[in-house]
Amino acid sequence: MRVLGIETSCDETAVAVYDAKQGLLSHALYSQIATHAEYGGVVPELASRDHVCKTIRLVEQAMADSCSIAKDITGIAYTAGPGLAGALLVGATIGQSMGFAWGVPAIGVHHMEGHLLAPMLETCAPAYPFIALLVSGGHTLLVNVARFGSYEVLGESVDDAVGEAFDKTAKLLGLGYPGGAALAALAQKGDPKRFHFPRPMINRAGLDFSFSGLKTFAANTIGDHPLDEQTRADIACAFQEAAVETLVIKCHRALQLTGLKTLVVAGGVGANLVLREQLQHLMKAEGGAVYFPRNEFCTDNGAMIAYAGCQRLLAGERGDLTIKVFPRWSLEELICPAKPA
Ligand code: KG4
Ligand code: ZN
Repeated sequence: MRVLGIETSCDETAVAVYDAKQGLLSHALYSQIATHAEYGGVVPELASRDHVCKTIRLVEQAMADSCSIAKDITGIAYTAGPGLAGALLVGATIGQSMGFAWGVPAIGVHHMEGHLLAPMLETCAPAYPFIALLVSGGHTLLVNVARFGSYEVLGESVDDAVGEAFDKTAKLLGLGYPGGAALAALAQKGDPKRFHFPRPMINRAGLDFSFSGLKTFAANTIGDHPLDEQTRADIACAFQEAAVETLVIKCHRALQLTGLKTLVVAGGVGANLVLREQLQHLMKAEGGAVYFPRNEFCTDNGAMIAYAGCQRLLAGERGDLTIKVFPRWSLEELICPAKPA
């Protein structure tokens, strides 16, 4: 089974070729960040138009880089949701059309299932069952993964996603969009003792998150202080510490609740070094292990879609020829294949 994966759910156009026997053969990506940066956020119509311009070119690149020709491809996977409707439709239309033209099955993949399985692309991959912390610009989820396709959402953000809180705070600090990585870099120069930000919802039972209060706290702190370079760094540092500690506390709770010893972290915020360090520390203390994808597969990419699609195709899943996308789609709605991949 050799699968061409297409990701167009938001502001990255990405294509990859994954082979069930040989692993990842190629991946190509075009980021639209520069297009959206001047608007301070993703403009859906611009995103869709850019995907239209870039996807075919990236398909050609991924095919060439993997030394594949059309007859080598035995399946197509595209992101069917969640995401921006127009953007998703570009990948779905191209994926279904190519599947029809090449006479191979084309299936829609859940974007968050892709993120969750991204660590499987690494040489040292986790074994099921595990807890997955999915932290991106649009989602903050704790998921109990019993096996491939079986996802129980244990907790999620009741308001802003953690990446969104990073981005909004970064914007207030004048760091541009999306500013999560820039905020993390600035935080390195900060004094962790100068400000103390609240750890939202840690005193409440359960595994849900809330990040909008933390962002408001950051906005008020920024408003109350003259923004010299050191103060900006100190605020970035306090924000990051609070966000990371909140995530670590909830991961710990999820592990205690389920008795599991394996943690998987994925999504753009999974690239955050302080989060990685603290989770490594936690898992060492717990006698377990934490798995991350490499940095470029933390953020949106085609490799995770090709991999997830390949597992579903191997498990016997087949789509029909309808071009359907699901801008809102819970992981728990996914069908767990009867036959393991
Ligand atoms: O998974 P992703 O590429 O896109 C979504 O599906 O949302 O995640 C992007 C998010 C953005 O909010 C970005 O600011 C954040 O991940 N991010 C980071 C870091 N690198 C990316 N947040 C904190 N620290 C980082 N190093
Ligand atoms: Zn994503």
